[in-house]
Amino acid sequence: MRLVLLMIASAAAVVAQPSLDFEFFKSRVQPIFLAKRGDHARCYACHSIGTPYRLQRLSPGAATWNDEQSRKNFAATVNMINLGDLDASPLLIYALEEKAGGNHFHPGGKHWDSKNAPEWRTLNEWAHGQKAAESSH
Ligand code: HEC
Repeated sequence: MRLVLLMIASAAAVVAQPSLDFEFFKSRVQPIFLAKRGDHARCYACHSIGTPYRLQRLSPGAATWNDEQSRKNFAATVNMINLGDLDASPLLIYALEEKAGGNHFHPGGKHWDSKNAPEWRTLNEWAHGQKAAESSH
């Protein structure tokens, strides 16, 4: 029985592409890019100007992105998710300490020293297809 369930589960995983949720992205993920942590510059400070992974510039005076800008950020950030190997997603490894499972070097520094960091967990939940309605806050 257990084996059958496993087989069904893995077949489903192949068929159903994990779909990344826009509402979860907008309400939970985007604020992380604007948040200041420790001595680090904000993700937004660097990733809205010169990097391949490019967030939209905020409109003058705006504290966050409007819907159209958020859609563009969503598309750019989906590109930083490796659907074939979620754990290797650039979004999840660049700002995570190498000893915690991150990559070797990120010019923007290591913002999280553990996969238990709440912000990192939020990024990871989103990468795994968590929907806004399911999130517990
Ligand atoms: C001080 C500037 C700076 C900050 C702050 C910063 N980064 Fe970066 N990041 C870079 C640079 C520079 C690269 C390498 C760009 C390249 O490959 O030419 C990079 C690379 C990346 C990449 C790989 C894709 C790419 O553009 O090369 C990801 C994903 C990434 N950063 C995520 C983040 C996240 C998430 C944060 C916030 C937690 C963050 N970065 C904060 C400068 C920064």
